[in-house]
Amino acid sequence: MKLKLKLVAAGMLLAFGMAAHAAPIVIKYSHVVADVTPKGQAALKFKELAEKKLPGKVDIQIFPNSQLFGDGKEMEALLLGDVQILAPSLAKFGKYTKQIQIFDLPFLFDDIQAVDRFQASKEGQGLLNSMEKKGIKGFGFLHNGMKQLSANKPLGYPTDAKGLKFRIQASDVLEEQFKAVGGNPQKLAFAEVYQALQTGVVDGTENPWSNIYSKKFHEVQKYIMDSNHGVLDYMVIGNAKWWAGLPPDVQKGLSEAMAESIKFGNKVAFDEDMAFRKKVIDENKAKVLPMNKEQTAAWRSAMQPVWKKFEGEIGKPLIDAALKANK
Ligand code: LMR
Repeated sequence: MKLKLKLVAAGMLLAFGMAAHAAPIVIKYSHVVADVTPKGQAALKFKELAEKKLPGKVDIQIFPNSQLFGDGKEMEALLLGDVQILAPSLAKFGKYTKQIQIFDLPFLFDDIQAVDRFQASKEGQGLLNSMEKKGIKGFGFLHNGMKQLSANKPLGYPTDAKGLKFRIQASDVLEEQFKAVGGNPQKLAFAEVYQALQTGVVDGTENPWSNIYSKKFHEVQKYIMDSNHGVLDYMVIGNAKWWAGLPPDVQKGLSEAMAESIKFGNKVAFDEDMAFRKKVIDENKAKVLPMNKEQTAAWRSAMQPVWKKFEGEIGKPLIDAALKANK
């Protein structure tokens, strides 16, 4: 009897010891851009904060530059549980929700501050839960910045885009945006853009300054317009089932780390957008051209018919809420 008790006690001690030294939960966070960008820096900050808040409990592994998964594969990988966290561009959710297409409407937001106000609004925050039924949990919006048009010829007026092939993200709205100016849009993964521009598979594209600089698009494009015609932002997302199965203390630590890392990334986006633009200008490989009011008005009126095409899918009240954020 005594021996049996001792054995039970020893067994309990062993189990306790094993639990105390349980292996950390491995969390893979994959994205397609460089570490220096707002998203790259937010991801690294998330690792730093989460591992500090949950010592020994989590092992956060960051995979930048499409190293683990690129566009096209990453969402499936998330749903299969091969990766736990992603931060795709808002242009890449069309398969999962039509409402988020709102962010691709050309000339909808006056600037990134307006985008920020809309994302913080009741309507904007509601979009974070819009894919839960599909197994996707939205943690928060993360900024990159306004997009700039580029090509090997100046794009002063929309007629200059006629007949040009433009690389676009996987978005039906962006497809219509370039068709509206007579362009020939082609959906390509981010990892393929540099080569496609270099080899002439496409003639032009659109991206914010941090992506242009860190992926050297300015080395394979002769002109970049200060067009600010649309936004490229992200939603940081997780596999909803995986998230629901995490212990409450881990959920709490990760939620805090996520909120702080997004705040940090947004500050980088606000503070460094113009610095990336300056780096592009200083390298003097592509010419950065201003767009005056008349040119901007011409682009806006050529592209704006796209809004009507997607109003039914997105919903007029949501578009009105976004417009309200412009003031
Ligand atoms: C793109 O494909 O151009 C962007 O979505 C890349 C990114 O994540 O910023």
